[in-house]
Amino acid sequence: MAIVERVFSGVQPTGNLHLGNYLGAIVNFVRLQETHNCIYCVVDLHAITQPVSVWGGPTELARNTREVTAAFIAAGIDPNKHIVFNQSQVTGHAELTWIFNCVARIGWLNRMTQFKEKAGKDRENASVGLYDYPVLMAADILLYRATHVPVGEDQKQHLELARDIAQKFNNDFADSIRSHGFADGLLFPPPEPLITGPATRVMSLRDGTKKMSKSDSSDNSRINLTDDADTIAQKIRKAKTDPEPLPSEEKGLEPRPEADNLVGIYAALSGRSKAEVLREFGGGQFSNFKNALVELCVTKLSPIASEMKRLMADPGHVDAILIDGADRASVIAHETMQAAKDIVGFIRKP
Ligand code: TYM
Repeated sequence: MAIVERVFSGVQPTGNLHLGNYLGAIVNFVRLQETHNCIYCVVDLHAITQPVSVWGGPTELARNTREVTAAFIAAGIDPNKHIVFNQSQVTGHAELTWIFNCVARIGWLNRMTQFKEKAGKDRENASVGLYDYPVLMAADILLYRATHVPVGEDQKQHLELARDIAQKFNNDFADSIRSHGFADGLLFPPPEPLITGPATRVMSLRDGTKKMSKSDSSDNSRINLTDDADTIAQKIRKAKTDPEPLPSEEKGLEPRPEADNLVGIYAALSGRSKAEVLREFGGGQFSNFKNALVELCVTKLSPIASEMKRLMADPGHVDAILIDGADRASVIAHETMQAAKDIVGFIRKP
């Protein structure tokens, strides 16, 4: 089994897909289709690590799974050339997680900041799944022996953990890996995070020091991919700013998180750098810049919202895409699982 350059990434079906998910992740998913074999996964097993009240129960989960799929396709992912599926349909994710649970160390998981944030003060009451979330994420990636993983900045630590797990597995089973025909001693290539573009961490529109998030109780803190033009305009006009005009150089954004965020969003949506955006808008009033940002957001996001709506009206079609994707993903996953089981020493039907 040769290592091929392969991209894997995932998005949770937990509702309120927003501009941060789009600019931090989905835009890059679309771009990478030109150069790589890509696998994009709706990670429903991850969604249920939160309390049911957060992910909304069975009807919501199925709806949100279709909605993320619709967003992928509306944004320009081609499910025929690449693979789009939902995680729970491929059993290898859960199986490989178990093997990795026995490779990963408790000390490694105790360092995960996202667990601390999500579990909050009542850590004893968090699910075991939430604690194990990063191990499942490592299994997602390594099940396909993926080499590149496009994500937003907030996933960097989880990617480092995936690399540590890959390396420890390769070390722990080095002899067995070689004797099973992997001359380079690598069953799992350490995956590289791809955290690129001017919007790897899109911030809340209400507070430039907080990440834009699906779970923020204020809907005005984020632009949802399903927002209509009026809602987008309202949210941007209300977005927190400071009284100064925009600076002409990037350095001037440093102490101004809200301005920095809006300029980053403009840059990412227009495919330009922040410096270029400031060359055009620097020195001018914020209100003019906000008007231009509204127009750009609406132009870029409205076609996605209407295509998502069209796809959501035909759930059978969306499900067929996921089933076909899962069938193709399973072929690759099966090959890796067979190798992993042989390498660990599990007896299986030949
Ligand atoms: P999720 O659904 O929370 O986020 C999906 C993607 O959106 C990015 N993102 C952001 N980027 C920029 N600014 C923001 N405010 C922002 N908020 C979210 C996330 O970084 C992510 O890339 N754990 C993953 C899902 C996952 C996964 C995987 C990813 C499960 N298995 C394997 C890669 C590989 C997550 O955060 O999903």
